[in-house]
Amino acid sequence: MKLLLIAGARPNFMKVAPLIKAIQARQQAKPASPAAIEYKLVHTGQHYDAKMSDVFFQELGIPAPDINLGVGSGSHAAQTANIMLKFEPVCESEKPDWLVVVGDVNSTVACTLVAAKLGIKTAHVEAGLRSGDRSMPEEINRLVTDAIADLLLTPSLDANENLRREGVTEGKIQLVGNVMIDALVANLSAAHQSGTLQRLGLAVGKFVYVTLHRPSNVDHQENLRAIMKELFRIARHLPIVFPMHPRTRRRLAEFGISCAGAEGMHVIEPVGYHDSLSLTENARLVLTDSGGLQEESTYFRTPCLTLRPNTERPVTVTVGSNRLTTVARLPEDLDAIIARPPRLGAIPDLWDGKSADRILDALLQFRVAGQPGDRTPISTAK
Ligand code: UD1
Repeated sequence: MKLLLIAGARPNFMKVAPLIKAIQARQQAKPASPAAIEYKLVHTGQHYDAKMSDVFFQELGIPAPDINLGVGSGSHAAQTANIMLKFEPVCESEKPDWLVVVGDVNSTVACTLVAAKLGIKTAHVEAGLRSGDRSMPEEINRLVTDAIADLLLTPSLDANENLRREGVTEGKIQLVGNVMIDALVANLSAAHQSGTLQRLGLAVGKFVYVTLHRPSNVDHQENLRAIMKELFRIARHLPIVFPMHPRTRRRLAEFGISCAGAEGMHVIEPVGYHDSLSLTENARLVLTDSGGLQEESTYFRTPCLTLRPNTERPVTVTVGSNRLTTVARLPEDLDAIIARPPRLGAIPDLWDGKSADRILDALLQFRVAGQPGDRTPISTAK
């Protein structure tokens, strides 16, 4: 079975790394098995800076991509179209049995569209998540990808329910758990040895880890100004470490908002994976609009405030340590968190570090109906 794995943007890398490790482990254990799996890794180049891409390859031990489409940045239409144009000939020459896409970025939907039209089976890892908010580009990417992919590999039961509600047939849906937690578990000891807190002069449990990059938070001057004002206020009481996404940095410069001299504010370059895990584990709380950090803080049981009106990862709220917040509500939500124990919530089911193996099993066991052109699954044999 030959797979094409797609990675395009920062949050994809920690999802493909465990898949590659699991494939390599099977290749070494049973090189000549009929269930042997080959893969090629395609990097679309959606993220390209060393700090947004290369550092994750190094720290996660991901081999260099076999193919790099080098698309770079652009408007949504331009980026999606460029990926499609460059990915189509790769599919035609590689002829994979499966395309495997992860997450909800533009690379995910672009590659799925290409493969579906070429009749290549597609598996979506992290399928079924829904925020219900179509103003988020990721929600459009999730809806389109899940509508045309053949195998929908879900991280939690709420995702299965979302897909059923949209009329997806049962045989296409397989609950595999959260593959990002596989990467977290495998990298815990490296994160513990990273020396992040010492380097940044931070004490365990005595700082806030902030990441913000969503267009809804950072692209509008008034919003961003209000957010930064509130962060400056908080940082006077509890130091803030804010590794800044390039989009956010650019917007602050455009709007003439400066962090220079703000007491307790540590605005730094984007951090690597091990530093980010260490900051998440040791912060008094995380304030974010990232999907991945909602999940990682849930795993560490670190309190998390998500600066968004909704989340596609409700299990982080119902089971985990996450709460939604607004700029206006931040002061009271912060006080409420600080009055509670430093560890909150529990780890959701199937966040156990074994999802990559379940994903490979699901791919091997997938069966398609006999008629040419009909890729409807008829069973997902156990
Ligand atoms: C993308 C994803 C988002 C994810 C985020 C993580 C989509 C629709 N969005 O958003 O879901 O949470 O990645 O970071 O796919 N830039 C650089 N260097 C880079 C990459 C980007 O400077 O390596 C700058 C460029 O100015 C670019 C901007 O960041 O225009 C935004 O990058 P883009 O990939 O378009 O979207 P993200 O905001 O990163």
